[in-house]
Amino acid sequence: MPPHDYTPAVEELSLEDSSNVANLSKAPAPLPASCRPRYESYFSERGRHIRPGGIRSLVTEFIHIKGMCSLAGGLPPADLFPISKMTLELVNGDTLEVDNVQMAQQYNLTMDGCPELRAWATALTRRQQRPACETETVLTSGSNSALDLLAFILLERGDCIAVDEFHFPVLVEGHALPEGVEVVSVGMDGQGVDPASLEAVLADRARRGLALPKMLYTIPVAQNPTGAVASAERLAEVYRVCAKYGLLILEDDPYYFLQYPSGAEAVPGTDLPPGYLSVDRDGRVIRIDSLSKILAPGLRLGWVTCAPAIARKVALTAANTSTGVSGISAAVARTLVRNWGEDGFDAHARGTQAHYAAKAAACDAAARRHLADVATWDAPKAGMFMWLRLSGMDTLDSAALVEAMREEQVIAVPASAVSIKEDRPFLRVSFSYGNSEQIDEGVRRLGAAIRRCMAAQKVQAQ
Ligand SMILES: Cc1ncc(COP(=O)(O)O)c(C=O)c1O
Repeated sequence: MPPHDYTPAVEELSLEDSSNVANLSKAPAPLPASCRPRYESYFSERGRHIRPGGIRSLVTEFIHIKGMCSLAGGLPPADLFPISKMTLELVNGDTLEVDNVQMAQQYNLTMDGCPELRAWATALTRRQQRPACETETVLTSGSNSALDLLAFILLERGDCIAVDEFHFPVLVEGHALPEGVEVVSVGMDGQGVDPASLEAVLADRARRGLALPKMLYTIPVAQNPTGAVASAERLAEVYRVCAKYGLLILEDDPYYFLQYPSGAEAVPGTDLPPGYLSVDRDGRVIRIDSLSKILAPGLRLGWVTCAPAIARKVALTAANTSTGVSGISAAVARTLVRNWGEDGFDAHARGTQAHYAAKAAACDAAARRHLADVATWDAPKAGMFMWLRLSGMDTLDSAALVEAMREEQVIAVPASAVSIKEDRPFLRVSFSYGNSEQIDEGVRRLGAAIRRCMAAQKVQAQ
């Protein structure tokens, strides 16, 4: 039995048969508050005890009162700020004036950071993700910062988390392992995390009296590194297993707007299926969005959407550590999205999707030219990565492959960099940066490196 929570409502959910799972993905109705996870029991010691900073509370409480004479905060006076005007010149030649430039240079005075951008992120998430449960949104400095804040309030030594077998490593390498959190790897297939594997791992741990993971960390769209995209049925099934065993779901979804299931000619824009929030009936999903892939990573902007009890802790931690997102970045982003409106954002998403779809096609074509004898893969339908399975190998000496790639002057990511398991014969190829000629040349060199490595492994085996 997990120490944090075991959701008694699971039996009541009666999600065991697939018709209910299908219904769940169509019209989830939130369960009563009594069936929600007991969030307190998921928080780490730090998360449980974090409180608003003393000075900050005073400043925030009194600064907005009309006529208040504040001698409390160490806020620099606005007339000392060096920037008086910010004009954005867009790549299409449009120019946009940023308003409230002085405020953008000040400390965030509320936990909202930038209320307008937060309202935009909240509305976008409601529209796209259709959460059934009550949620709150907190702006963060990108997804990585969201992972950092969530790890702070949720994870501590002795905890356990479940992760996709091949995963984006920041939570695992940067937080879980250094903190002494056990990491349990869950098998995957072409749609990402495999619910049968998840259930088998959890049932086995329960049988052996081992601690169950507090959460599943997963990437539902353009999974990094495999590129897998989960269907609505898959989301519902994984959610069912997590609810049954009391796991929170940490849904890290920076590639959501980079979906192009039908190629460059028929991109979906913002007409996209929702993720885990949409099947969440009891408030166990914590969603992370990012502007890094759809706007620019240098903005360092993203947001967390989750149950208010968790969101408040995230906001408090952000306020106590970084003091929230950069005002300048938020001002730039709010100016852009305000000017675009819903249609402009949709058009921007379409352009971005068409760009990546064309590159994905170029990478697939290059792989067919140069890798057909040494690897198999699925043509990417989202995101920036193609996942190669090297043929005829059960294990891969990744150090040797890295050396071979060095000699061929090319680099891709072997599975050992994105998995806690032994060397598996997989490789992540990114097609985001170069043009089609560069992608073709890179893939050609990669083929040469793989052949060189395979030949060396064969010689060693003899
Ligand atoms: C799955 C995943 N999560 C988080 C990040 C980090 O994103 P951000 O720039 O928003 O911090 C990345 C970026 O590569 C990613 O692939």
